[in-house]
Amino acid sequence: MSMEYDLIVIGAGPGGYVSAAVAAGKGMKTAVIEKEELGGTCLNHGCIPTKTIMHSTELYAELKAAEAAGIHADGISYSMAEIQNHKQEVLEQLRSGIAMMLKKGKVDFYQGTAKITDKHTVIVGSQILTTDKILICTGSRTAVPTIPGMDLDKVVTSDDLLDSTIVYKRLVIIGGGVIGMELASIYSRLGTEVVVIEALDRILVNMDKEFSQSLKMLAKKRGTEIHTKASVKEIRSKDKGVSCIFTEKDEDIEIDADAVLVATGRRPNTEGLLGSDVTVDTEKGRIIVNENYQTSVPNIYAAGDVIGGIQLAHVASAEAVNAVCHMAGEKPAKDINVIPSCIYTSPEIASVGITPEEAKAAEMDAKTVKYPMSANGKSLLSMEGRGFIKVTADASTGKILGAQMMCARATDMIAIFAEAIACGLTKEQMSSVIYPHPTFSEGIGEAVELF
Ligand code: NAI
Repeated sequence: MSMEYDLIVIGAGPGGYVSAAVAAGKGMKTAVIEKEELGGTCLNHGCIPTKTIMHSTELYAELKAAEAAGIHADGISYSMAEIQNHKQEVLEQLRSGIAMMLKKGKVDFYQGTAKITDKHTVIVGSQILTTDKILICTGSRTAVPTIPGMDLDKVVTSDDLLDSTIVYKRLVIIGGGVIGMELASIYSRLGTEVVVIEALDRILVNMDKEFSQSLKMLAKKRGTEIHTKASVKEIRSKDKGVSCIFTEKDEDIEIDADAVLVATGRRPNTEGLLGSDVTVDTEKGRIIVNENYQTSVPNIYAAGDVIGGIQLAHVASAEAVNAVCHMAGEKPAKDINVIPSCIYTSPEIASVGITPEEAKAAEMDAKTVKYPMSANGKSLLSMEGRGFIKVTADASTGKILGAQMMCARATDMIAIFAEAIACGLTKEQMSSVIYPHPTFSEGIGEAVELF
């Protein structure tokens, strides 16, 4: 039977659109199917809208603090409607960039909901498409815990908040993970009283412990209330807002707010994807894949949030590209062992490789050094003199094993350590490099000199 396509990619997020373009570049006749807008969660409800709004709130906070640098900016104010307009313009520009890239790459685009009816057939609307291979990149969506009151109007998700022009006076955030802490940062800058309720013993539990401690301290200084080891029992409607009832240290606490944001993790999107004649193995909703991103049906691949693991846009793209490489009989193009992660709080947080705690737990012969950014000229002159750079290296070979940064521009600078780890650089090689002066990156040179 002759197939219409070599590859059909389902989902046009960072996993889907990037891999579709790569596949077409390798000469595969490729189609991509998307039911919503191009760009997936990252572009429409995640990374890009968050960081665009974040940028506006950073400008606002900087202008308010400008007097310390000799700038008098009186009567500073913001309009959430205008911030949203700016965000919309950014999203539209990026979406049209993706559309252009797919068109240029000769990737066929289908708008609609895809259903895999057998291992070589995908239907979208009234069209029946046949294909040699399928790549599922359907992403994830907010997981809402089963707590009484979760269905109230004033209980919102990050999708709702990122499209909203409302700036609440008081906001309760359930979940002190990445989404919770980034949105806490945005809203506290706008003057919202934020209360974070986290079930575990610290915020940002998947990151280095020092990040959690430092961010908690800074957030508290800015007026954000953080409750850990706290279990939400119920949310009730109250006056024009809500009241959130939770237990902390065996004590019942009730907090009133204008709204509650649920940021307790995300779950894979697989509903309605497979017809009754096709099954792939799953576990707790995520699609199980092997090291080549093949599902239990070998010509059906999956990558990104839908397979669980680290739910980041750049991981989804890398996994999906590696899946395409496997389809083409090539080696993986991306090193999936070195994954930088970034949190856009104030100051920014970034990490790659192992943490000192992980090195200790694994009884590795490793050494960690720590450089305070209060000693970095560029940080001081730009009034960003908080934070640190921590680097861990193998004690005998000197190879860089990991780095954690909490400082201005950490999310950009972490790439230097990602490259060092991926390329197997040693602390000696890193400290032989001349870092320009005065820059934030000079802190990296200073840190590796400390070994
Ligand atoms: P997350 O897994 O990072 O954090 C969820 C937090 O909620 C956890 O700390 C968990 O203990 C807590 N929690 C769960 N149930 C709870 C309950 N009933 N009461 C109180 N706390 C509860 O998930 P999040 O923040 O929703 O982010 C989802 C995904 O999106 C993550 O994988 C994250 O890495 C990714 N993401 C990445 C960003 C970045 O790279 N800058 C930005 C935003 C999201």
